[in-house]
Amino acid sequence: MTTRRKFLKLSALMASLFAFNKTKAIETISKSNGKQIKPVVLSTWKHGLAANEGAWKILSSNGSALDAVEKGVMVTEDDFTNLSVGLGGLPDRDGCVTLDASIMDEKGRCGGVAFLERIKHPISVARLVMEKTAHVLLVGSGAQKFALDNGFKLEPKTLSTEAEKAYKEWLKKSEYKPMINIENHDTIGMIAIDANGNLSGSCTTSGLAYKIHGRVGDSPIIGAGMYVDNEVGAACATGVGETVLRICGSHLVVELMRQGLSPDDACKKAVERLISKNPNYKEVQVGFLALNKNGEHGAYALQKGFNYALYSNEIKNQMFDSKSFLQ
Ligand code: GLY
Repeated sequence: MTTRRKFLKLSALMASLFAFNKTKAIETISKSNGKQIKPVVLSTWKHGLAANEGAWKILSSNGSALDAVEKGVMVTEDDFTNLSVGLGGLPDRDGCVTLDASIMDEKGRCGGVAFLERIKHPISVARLVMEKTAHVLLVGSGAQKFALDNGFKLEPKTLSTEAEKAYKEWLKKSEYKPMINIENHDTIGMIAIDANGNLSGSCTTSGLAYKIHGRVGDSPIIGAGMYVDNEVGAACATGVGETVLRICGSHLVVELMRQGLSPDDACKKAVERLISKNPNYKEVQVGFLALNKNGEHGAYALQKGFNYALYSNEIKNQMFDSKSFLQ
């Protein structure tokens, strides 16, 4: 009995120590005290953990933030069981999986693809648009042709087992309603600073489940789903894209940091702006992540439940809960 009591006491002590250390760690990592924290990578939602691992391999060997944010989110795009990113994602109402992605680097170069079908890595096509064309955004069959012309493979037009099951269920009522925090609108957005202090960002998604065929969200739109200014910082968004598009959300977060706001406060202010422009704000979820030039990061969401994965030299890839406007 005594041993059991001791064990319970010890477990409680360990748990509170862990919680204390985690809080302390997050305070340390998010305040640079004038010293640049680098490298750092953060990405949205739990699938961010595996994506961060991919990015960290590059960042920890002095690779560029641009390579890291591309390779990082490719891990998520590769996962055919993921219902909101890549070809395993939930389809639109016509049963087609259509993908959106964007990427931006420290030189202000950017590229995106939207409404892209049957290509496994839209993020790499977005990078190619950025690096090999005079354009920023390619869509639909044009984006697919560009991908095929550049060596990408046309994948079969098949839904994943789970996506097919969910789609068949949805067809019974065919009701369209984005659901809060349920993985039907959970983009992966990733922002990073590398060992040289350069910033980049990426964003990739299959978009809202059961959307109208042809709908494009915030993720491929530079300044909405993701934005980088190497002098200031980087930001990305997740959630219902229409609400983010209305306020050019990620650009707004970066501009608020330029005005001197901390990453946390910039994300919070952007959510407040979003609320003022979207009367339906109680029915949707949106979350922002931000990273400034010092390597300090922040997050804020509309609804509780938004979380993100953070990897740095101090924090070895852990999940953190974002603060939110609604509790
Ligand atoms: N944020 C992803 C989308 O709305 O498509």
